[in-house]
Amino acid sequence: MNSPSTRRIVLGVTGGIAAYKAAELTRLLVKDGADVHVVLTQGGAHFVTPVTFQALSGNRVWTDLWDASMQNNMAHIDLTRGAQAVVVAPASADFLAKLANGMADDLLTTLCLARPRQQVDGAQHACALLVAPAMNRQMWDNPATQRNIARLREDGVVILGPGCGEQACGESGDGRMLEPEELFEEIIAQSQPKVLSGRRVLLTAGPTFEPIDPVRGITNSSSGKMGYALARAAREAGASVTLVSGPVALTTPRGVGRVDVQTARDMRNAVMARVGDNDIFIAVAAVADYRPAQVAEHKIKKSRESRALTLEANPDILAEVAALPKPPFCVGFAAESERLEEYASAKRIAKRIPLIVGNLVQEGLGADDNRVILFDDNGSTPLAPAGKLDVARQVVARIGRMIDPHR
Ligand code: C5P
Repeated sequence: MNSPSTRRIVLGVTGGIAAYKAAELTRLLVKDGADVHVVLTQGGAHFVTPVTFQALSGNRVWTDLWDASMQNNMAHIDLTRGAQAVVVAPASADFLAKLANGMADDLLTTLCLARPRQQVDGAQHACALLVAPAMNRQMWDNPATQRNIARLREDGVVILGPGCGEQACGESGDGRMLEPEELFEEIIAQSQPKVLSGRRVLLTAGPTFEPIDPVRGITNSSSGKMGYALARAAREAGASVTLVSGPVALTTPRGVGRVDVQTARDMRNAVMARVGDNDIFIAVAAVADYRPAQVAEHKIKKSRESRALTLEANPDILAEVAALPKPPFCVGFAAESERLEEYASAKRIAKRIPLIVGNLVQEGLGADDNRVILFDDNGSTPLAPAGKLDVARQVVARIGRMIDPHR
């Protein structure tokens, strides 16, 4: 994993109205610690000026193949050396056509062609090429553009989007550039080690909600943040990911399939219907252990009398999956308020799972950070306290090592 301080990104901006969004993308990358070098094509410079990108990136902006100010007059070579990626956003139909045909008639096309595509003796990093198409829907649908896109994919170029929706021309359809936050997430994902490449991962996240009547119910305190971070980390690591989610107010990570459920029994049914297609099951959800034995059809009226609520046990989804004849690799979570080591280890053994992630609820619940301990057959490993996405990436790395120690 590159440390943020050493990440160098070359951002190409070609001619399209979405060029103004590249300014926000620059800001997001710089805020994350990347060293961003912007290359504006002649078309791009009609929409935004170099000064905008210079102010946001803190680096000079390149526009001209014949600019003699770089050492050796070799901007088209030097800019991508040591770079993690060239990102072209927006990428116009014209730029994509040139790229697909190996043309090199300006600085951006030339540096794309000249970028290092393989690692050479560990001395030089391979530099990925990601493009974010942005154009009118007819231009995008045109067979010529589609041919170019297919060829670029074959060449290993990563195509980000395009999205669908209203376009600056007033039409609506495919061809909108992805939003800067979406592009940022994709660029970060691209740089993560692909330790789960080709694997299928099923997760549960969030709380469940067990109705008492049409307006009341029993639930657990769970923001869903850890489960969503794990879904994102698994997808970044190359897995195809399905997230079975209880009621939460979170955005689905890009590229993750989401199934919404409410009760523990809904969650169990959604998991059991899909688990056979998956290699890994990660149960992060805070499933309600009990549900009301009866759900009132109408709102229970208030009275001064005390009331008794009869509860019955919910299915234990993780235990049921782990007990399948051919279970996937199962990972559980244990949120405890005391004696973490003892309770988490006991749960791992009781549920017969290879890995459990334990945390003290006082340290993780609802927060953006978490401090966890991993328990497996070899004992316990505490991870340093970190943001939930960082913790999730470390858990994914551990799962990757456990299922494939030689990778
Ligand atoms: O609730 P408990 O502490 O047993 O949770 C441990 C693990 O089991 C968690 O990973 C949780 O998602 C999972 N679990 C489950 N179904 C339940 C209860 C817990 O899948 N009914």
